[in-house]
Amino acid sequence: MEGTVTSVLLAGIATLLAYLFLFRNAERRRPLPGMPGPRGWPVVGSLFSLGELPHLRLMEMSCTYGNVYQLRLGSQYVVVVNGIRAIKESLLKQSVRFAGRPAFPSMNFTSKYVGIVFDTYDDMWKYQRKIIDSSLKPFTSGPTALEEVVTSAAVDVVNNLTNHGNCGNGKQSDPYDDLYTAVGNVTCFVLFGKRYSHDDDNFKKVLYYSKRFVAAITGKGNIVDYLPWMTFAMRKAFAKVADDLSLITRFVGEQINHHSSHRDGIGSVMDSLIRIRNDSERTEGCALKTKTDVERVLCCLFGAGYENTTSTLYYLILYMIIHPEIQYKVHEEIDRVVSRDRLPTLSDRAKLPYTDAVLQEVIRHASLAPLTVPYSTLKDTDLLGYKIPKDTPIFVNLWSANYDENEWEDPHRFNPDRFLSADGLSVKKSQVAKMVAFGMGKRRCPGEQLAQLQLFLFFAIFMHQCHFEKCEGDNPQLTSVYGLTLRPVPFRVVTKHRGPD
Ligand code: HEM
Repeated sequence: MEGTVTSVLLAGIATLLAYLFLFRNAERRRPLPGMPGPRGWPVVGSLFSLGELPHLRLMEMSCTYGNVYQLRLGSQYVVVVNGIRAIKESLLKQSVRFAGRPAFPSMNFTSKYVGIVFDTYDDMWKYQRKIIDSSLKPFTSGPTALEEVVTSAAVDVVNNLTNHGNCGNGKQSDPYDDLYTAVGNVTCFVLFGKRYSHDDDNFKKVLYYSKRFVAAITGKGNIVDYLPWMTFAMRKAFAKVADDLSLITRFVGEQINHHSSHRDGIGSVMDSLIRIRNDSERTEGCALKTKTDVERVLCCLFGAGYENTTSTLYYLILYMIIHPEIQYKVHEEIDRVVSRDRLPTLSDRAKLPYTDAVLQEVIRHASLAPLTVPYSTLKDTDLLGYKIPKDTPIFVNLWSANYDENEWEDPHRFNPDRFLSADGLSVKKSQVAKMVAFGMGKRRCPGEQLAQLQLFLFFAIFMHQCHFEKCEGDNPQLTSVYGLTLRPVPFRVVTKHRGPD
């Protein structure tokens, strides 16, 4: 009985606090005068009306409210930007005004461990972003050891996929884990200058924690951004995410300790960061002074690139089994240009325009990062005639730009030819530039070139070596689930080795 009374009292106090918090926030968060948008439900607004694939619902809403509209999500008003014109007007033409990040609880929390991506635009961000850009550059300009690492990781995947359990005349498996491990290894090489054996305990652990972190942070993980009074109910989920992030940070910290004492990993991103940190006393304004600063940057790069690159490869295999006629044309081009005697290399890329066009069309059509990380305005601003005050959270719908009917003919059709020149001999640069799968403006993905390079080489080697088919009785579809980004609903594939001729 005593316990019940205490519980009721605690519940009463929690409710009172919740309403005070909500009321206080509601006072600070008002609708933007004159900007259209749905009214939403009491208390939650449109929070639960966005569905499992919010980018689609947000694009649908733009038919009613236009390309710039406001939404109330719980106690928070946000502005949604759709379509290529409105995205360019904000992220390109007013790039600094739109470069901030909102102080959402989930972002503040994650940014303790992960740098750059959730940090707002300030001198520290600018400094660290410059360092990231320059330390990734050596991996994408000119011949690098990266090519050898990607080739060996791709060959491992081919061997694993063609050796999994039998399914009729070929081997069947869900390729996701093999791709995840391969991309993990390439990422560790770039960041730490180190490759791991697939059985390495530390490597296996960090892959496992990264996966668990993604599973925990997705779904309802950030509901507290819009309903702050839910913080109490979500504390367990947050504690789990904190555990996983601490473990990933510990792994990164161990790489730094190992590097400092053994001086290996020369040429890795970590190597550049440690050099800058060691010089920090002599460098004015250096924003990389402590081991924690270095860890935050490395954790950011580890998290930001890994999942996206793996999911793109997963999509590539799925599109190939759903479009065998396109797979056939890629096989034909690779065999004709490269021959069966050797593996494709990066220097073949310009001579493999169809293969490249298929990759670009998968990146556009899958648009696996459909919504950017939320932005925030750094000053009062105007966007296509609407006034937006400073500190307004902005959702940018990249999906809507990649499916904008004013830019792409029949955008829902999977059609690699849209990226080819009229004579079919090259990829049209103007079409690739039109795609906004890697964002735009100040926050544009710094790993774009690295991702493009890896994806092309992995894909070309897979297609040179393998024939992908769906398993008998399976009916894989191009349906996606939202994780941190989109990824296909898990599927199985029959992988046949293509042999020497
Ligand atoms: C297919 C692969 C990839 C895709 C589709 C992708 C997509 C994106 C997108 C759309 C953004 C912009 C988010 C925004 O506007 O807020 C972004 C940001 C970012 N990406 Fe990538 N990315 C990929 C691979 C990589 C790789 C390989 C790395 C690094 C090794 C990387 C590092 C980052 C970082 C650090 C940011 C944050 C930038 C900032 O906030 O200033 N990404 N990525």
